[in-house]
Amino acid sequence: MTAPDTGGGQLRVGVLGAGMISTITYGYLPNLHKIRDRVAITAIADVDVARAQSVADTCGIGTAVASLDALLNLDLDAVVNLLPGPAHFETSMRILESGRHLVTEKPITGTLAEADRLLDLADRRGLLVVAAPADMLANEWIRARDLIASNAIGKVAFARVQSSHAGAAGLSWPVNPSGFYQRGVGALLDLGVYGITQATGVLGPVQRVSAMSGITVPVRRARGGPFDGLEIPVTAPDNNLLLLDFGEATFAVVDGTYNVVASRAPRMEIYGLEGTLLVNRPDEPAPPVDVYRLDAAPGVAGWVTPRTYEIFPVGSDRFAELQRGALIEHLADCIRDGKQPVASGRHARHVLEIMLAAEQSAIEGRVIDVSSTF
Ligand SMILES: NC(=O)c1ccc[n+]([C@@H]2O[C@H](COP(=O)([O-])OP(=O)(O)OC[C@H]3O[C@@H](n4cnc5c(N)ncnc54)[C@H](O)[C@@H]3O)[C@@H](O)[C@H]2O)c1
Repeated sequence: MTAPDTGGGQLRVGVLGAGMISTITYGYLPNLHKIRDRVAITAIADVDVARAQSVADTCGIGTAVASLDALLNLDLDAVVNLLPGPAHFETSMRILESGRHLVTEKPITGTLAEADRLLDLADRRGLLVVAAPADMLANEWIRARDLIASNAIGKVAFARVQSSHAGAAGLSWPVNPSGFYQRGVGALLDLGVYGITQATGVLGPVQRVSAMSGITVPVRRARGGPFDGLEIPVTAPDNNLLLLDFGEATFAVVDGTYNVVASRAPRMEIYGLEGTLLVNRPDEPAPPVDVYRLDAAPGVAGWVTPRTYEIFPVGSDRFAELQRGALIEHLADCIRDGKQPVASGRHARHVLEIMLAAEQSAIEGRVIDVSSTF
């Protein structure tokens, strides 16, 4: 075992979990060959070692092992934690204790106390924590954040954030979708996490949360895929609407539900005193970011398209290039440049606090204060 790389060379990375998100087209591994001069995935671990071996064979990874312990015995600078959410805390702690930098899937942990222990350990050991979702590495969200910061639509009054889809059971899921509907996961932690990350990434930290949550139907039936027709008991809320208060009368509405079978809404609409900003859906012909300005030109109000090519040259959209692999490149960049991540553990902890506050708000029927920032 050697100490983690401090920059310059090729980052040696191990992957924990050879499930769906490791290999699916929008996942971590399929695009990493594009940055093989900077990042080497040298090993993968899964309790299902045959699955780990199969992913290793497909992705050209040299070593497949059956446990985190075996992974941590190898020469690695960082580990990417792709286990199901409830396993994140215990395994991420062991990764940091072993002296490796961490990239973790969401949610960062199950509780705030766990997140604090994890982030404190990383700080004490001088290790970096990069946390999913990766949205704030994508050009459209960077552009939206920068436009809001430069006052492009004036003071923001409120935003609407569309963060949901039909849920795994409604999307011909290739693996058993049951886990998403059980306590400890659910639509808020699974999907709301994206909209909350985007809203806070663009508008800044939240101060208060209120929410309504419910179980739409007690049993879902899987639609399509190898589990077509499977009956799934629903024990976690699958229908959550959140109201976020950013202070100074700036609000956002975010959904985290499994009930959006189709939508043509932008991913985010932000309404300001001097205009409106849209972050459009990637499958729409519209530009990724649209701005309506009351004074688009002297005497003229209208929709304008932010200039992007000078700011983001072709090939600069690291999320488009690498999908979730962008988080691993981001870690390599931060180590090389001695910088803290944008997709940071502190942001993920803030998002977790909002989600836990939303759960509490829905149960107790009151507004809950949020104290963290990022
Ligand atoms: N599937 C998606 O589309 C998707 C999208 C975004 C984020 N994620 C996140 O990615 C993470 C993983 O999701 P997934 O869909 O790949 O799950 P999955 O169930 O397909 O894969 C999880 C893998 O972890 C292995 N595993 C479980 N416990 C283990 C342990 N203690 N040691 C070693 N291996 C272990 C399992 O055998 C399995 O292969 C979750 O945090 C999820 O929220 C998934």
